[in-house]
Amino acid sequence: MKKCLNDKIFKLIAEVAKDEDVPTFVIGGFVRDCILERKTHDVDIVVLGSGIDLAKKIANRLGKGVHVSIFRSFGTAMVKFGDMEIEFVGARKESYRTTSRKPIVEDGSLEDDQNRRDFTINAMAISLNQDTYGTLIDPFGGREDIKNKILRTPLEPEKTFSDDPLRMMRAIRFASQLGFTIEEATLDAIKKSATRIEIVSRERITVELNKILLSDKPSIGFKLMEESGLLQLIFPEFQDLKGVHEENGQRHKDNFYHTIQVVDNVASISDNLWLRWAAVLHDIAKPLTKKFDQDLGWTFHAHEFIGSKMVHGIFRKMKLPLNEKMKYVQNIVLLHLRPISLSPEGVSDSAIRRLVFDAGDNLDDLMLLCEADITSKNEKTVLKHLKNFSIVRQKIAELEEKDSIRNFQPPVSGEEIMETFGISPSKPIGIIKDFIKEAILDGIIKNNHDEAYALMLEKGKELGLQTKKV
Ligand code: CTP
Repeated sequence: MKKCLNDKIFKLIAEVAKDEDVPTFVIGGFVRDCILERKTHDVDIVVLGSGIDLAKKIANRLGKGVHVSIFRSFGTAMVKFGDMEIEFVGARKESYRTTSRKPIVEDGSLEDDQNRRDFTINAMAISLNQDTYGTLIDPFGGREDIKNKILRTPLEPEKTFSDDPLRMMRAIRFASQLGFTIEEATLDAIKKSATRIEIVSRERITVELNKILLSDKPSIGFKLMEESGLLQLIFPEFQDLKGVHEENGQRHKDNFYHTIQVVDNVASISDNLWLRWAAVLHDIAKPLTKKFDQDLGWTFHAHEFIGSKMVHGIFRKMKLPLNEKMKYVQNIVLLHLRPISLSPEGVSDSAIRRLVFDAGDNLDDLMLLCEADITSKNEKTVLKHLKNFSIVRQKIAELEEKDSIRNFQPPVSGEEIMETFGISPSKPIGIIKDFIKEAILDGIIKNNHDEAYALMLEKGKELGLQTKKV
């Protein structure tokens, strides 16, 4: 496995380890990713001795400007070298009590250290020791599992998951990221242990959920979360999308499968995590708004509006940021039906202008989501929608050449209104500004100062205001 140790830093670590007489190994994700030929900058080094001491010596050898961060309570130290982050830790043996999440940590052998790891593919080590330099130490057949694309725990799966229940999410994340299959006994153990996820912090769960979302085909992860029972526990609103009802012989589509297809579609065209979240949440209020109407069939009236209102609560629970990223998701969820509702006959300039105004900078992403939202199996329907979207896109481009609505700035400011009519901050200012904005969006006046100013005078007069004498 010498090919994994090409970087000169490994030779140096080996030299220092030899001088200090401490057996040292590269372990975990770095070894896995090297075999998979995935790029990684995180290296974990396990030492039969003190990881902190070895890290300090190595930083010394590397010379000035190389910094060691020491995390004494974890017994680890991190050295940054170029774009690599190298973490040193002493080999350990951990055992968990059923009464507490805090493990009893003792020094251990390399074998102990490999035993306590989550999956066979993450439990491989490469020797940095002189006589065995570059040898793979793979007690659980991790390399074979990589070849066969299998995720499996080194020890009895229920024990591995009970030691750290987040590993259930990690299994699903790796399956989604790498396109691996979770071995049957391991998946069964996840199903049995699913409720234990409740002792894991939200932040850690969300890190894995985001990694699932960022994988090439997030639907793999969502299907596994659903099948294992984890989805119901960590994201019940999403679980509720599953299922089909029939009334008077009419069935609606299964919104769980529809949504994960939309997420995959978005993933195939954009790396933007927040657009992927918008895809996850675009129909989230369908279960709440579902009704059967004798004339119309199944309806989900106002699901886009209620869905956008649900975003905040879901983001808060998931410990996702409650900032402009969330507003972006809310905006796209709220507007996701707009473009599709613009049929060729109905594509009026004013409808397009309002869409551009309401979506602002999110417009291009909104259009991507809307196109990804077409999951119909009926080719005619798909073509019809795609044609409508291309008309909408063309109209947007035409209008944007004429008007600058996307980042709309009122052409007449509040100050100018106050100055013109000699009034202080009061209700009429808002009324006039709104009136001007609506007139621009409806295409009654152009988006420029002169026309807006004239309209301001007209509206002011109607409101009984008089222009200030100069
Ligand atoms: N590990 C574990 N159990 C966990 C987390 C990590 O056994 N709950 C072990 C695995 O051997 C893993 C290593 O610690 O390979 C490093 O973990 P981490 O850096 O979190 O993940 P990686 O496996 O490197 O994967 P990624 O970088 O994609 O998160």
